[in-house]
Amino acid sequence: MKAYLTLNYQKHKNSKHMSHKIQTLSGYIHEYQKSVLQPEEFWGRVAESFHWKKPWSKVLKWDFDGPDVNWFVDGKMNITENILDRHLFIMGDRPAIIWEPNEPGDEVVTLTYRELYHQVCQFANALKAQGVQKGDRVIIYMPMVPEAAVAMLACARIGAVHSVVFAGFSSTAVADRINDCEAKMVLTSDGNYRGAKSIGVKSVVDEALEKSTSVEKVIVFKRTGTEVTMKEGRDIWWDDAIKGQPLDCPAEEMDAEDMLFILYTSGSTGKPKGVVHTCGGYMVYTYYSFVNVFQYNVGDVYWCTADVGWITGHSYIVYGPLLAGATTLMFEGVPTYPHVGRFWEVIDKHKVNQFYTAPTAIRALQAYGLEPLEPYKMDTLKVIGSVGEPINEEAWHWYHDHVGKGNCPLVDTWWQTETGGIMIAPIAGVTPNKPAHASLPLPGVQPIIVDTEGKELHGNNVEGNLCIKFPWPGMIRTTYGDHDRCKQTYFSTYKGLYFTGDGAKRDHDGYLRILGRVDDVINVSGHRMGTAEVENAINEHPKVIESAVVGYPHDVKGQGIYAYVICDMEGRSEESLKNEIRETVSKIIGPIAKPDKVQIVPGLPKTRSGKIMRRILRKVASGEADQLGDTSTLLNPEVVEAIVKGASK
Ligand code: WTA
Repeated sequence: MKAYLTLNYQKHKNSKHMSHKIQTLSGYIHEYQKSVLQPEEFWGRVAESFHWKKPWSKVLKWDFDGPDVNWFVDGKMNITENILDRHLFIMGDRPAIIWEPNEPGDEVVTLTYRELYHQVCQFANALKAQGVQKGDRVIIYMPMVPEAAVAMLACARIGAVHSVVFAGFSSTAVADRINDCEAKMVLTSDGNYRGAKSIGVKSVVDEALEKSTSVEKVIVFKRTGTEVTMKEGRDIWWDDAIKGQPLDCPAEEMDAEDMLFILYTSGSTGKPKGVVHTCGGYMVYTYYSFVNVFQYNVGDVYWCTADVGWITGHSYIVYGPLLAGATTLMFEGVPTYPHVGRFWEVIDKHKVNQFYTAPTAIRALQAYGLEPLEPYKMDTLKVIGSVGEPINEEAWHWYHDHVGKGNCPLVDTWWQTETGGIMIAPIAGVTPNKPAHASLPLPGVQPIIVDTEGKELHGNNVEGNLCIKFPWPGMIRTTYGDHDRCKQTYFSTYKGLYFTGDGAKRDHDGYLRILGRVDDVINVSGHRMGTAEVENAINEHPKVIESAVVGYPHDVKGQGIYAYVICDMEGRSEESLKNEIRETVSKIIGPIAKPDKVQIVPGLPKTRSGKIMRRILRKVASGEADQLGDTSTLLNPEVVEAIVKGASK
């Protein structure tokens, strides 16, 4: 073994490895102050606990106007050495990944750190053998199986850039992403189990590849045994690809600012953009936020129910936990299959200590009452967490009282694809809980609330737009292939600030509460949708003339999608047209983007300059048609009445 492993072993023995963990409220305050007064020293100290092939020359160089943000300048490393090699000595036989399959009776798979190391190395060698080189982009379109994590880490091992696409997205969405990043390879599966359903996956990739030219090879993992077509010379089975490949693979030397991955996410305009994260800062930030927010202790079993297709899966199923040497549970199925107590059953079965899920799942399960919880003790739980959307007080209390049994700190974690890791959240057991409040920033995070002019609102009891005024290691570096878009979207609204797109309130205690998006992004079941993206999909239907999409409050999903559509009705009934429109969106983006409500309208309310008045549409969709305000300045005030009359209940 190499010398550095021994070195890090010593660090473990002296338990310095976990010394970045905050344990008291005064400790938090102290760390926070340090992180603001001496950010370079603060993050440099966290970064020191990792293995670097070459140390950095400067911790931080930045300019938000560029934006040009560099952490751990000139530092060389490989994130997988810090996940795998570093943990072999003392953690080699500890479980890294526990996999709970879709069917409760099917065999659980446990991969120790040593097994994960060998699988990653072997698959990394397979990627190289198939022509993937440092810097190449690889699309991962796979179900929730350990091989999805192996695939991500294998890319990172050889310096290839992964871009995971949620396996529920359509072939068009996959093709758009392949084309945007000019991917050389796609990693996929034959099919995918989701609850009672088995879904074709490879067939979606085949369709996507008809619309793209950059992909040279496709590696297919066999999961369901569904019949698939394998294209000669292009497609190869996973098992054949790894056959005979060595179980060790040198880790590519990466610059701290080399790209680690691209993850596409929706914004208020245009197509989803590729958010770029880089190796060094992301490593330091996901590790630090994971151990602190969840107060993870060696030996705990941690479970995040997200999908690896989203940022939560990247940072808090794969990278953060594995960097901390944790045991991370991966669940293939859905919360309601084969029964609505499945989450609680899995918690007991695997003795889960930290459980991290989304408010939408809580609200959906809350609707079944307490009976499904009764057979389960869930007494191993120490911390419960929430992510992806604002958690309403009712759901917060239900989660806290019935899942956490009133004695687990509930961490409501606010962050974004762009922030890479958790930004504002309680530190479990340290920060006093307050229902529905993300509470306080993590050390190193400097949030401010500004008014519409960008003026900082100081003090408590203020409400406005949430910005961050200083860089943090896990932040977005660029949007792939279009740096100006990154600048325009995040760094131009308010000069010198990163603008989150969220509204926030600082209450009388100084606690932050996130109020939701202030832009044209809708958050449906914790999934981000751009209204423009959904409108573009609707407009693909040949009978559609124009459309406008808004969000409205939805009991389970948080927000639902409401589409107002002007159509050419000839030869169609209203009902069939509505269904066709919903199907069109499902086909172009994926079932998650299907509008919940479609209203056929004679026109859309517009200003004299031709801009759609979304404010009015939002009010009608929310059932607040009595609060429309003045509509007389509209170009076409008469359509408002028709819209109100025909509104979908
Ligand atoms: C919303 C998910 C309130 C927010 C990690 C943000 C939240 C968007 C919370 C990012 C929370 C996420 N409370 N709102 N705890 N967490 N959001 O990129 O609007 O999928 O801007 O990242 O989700 O969604 P994304």
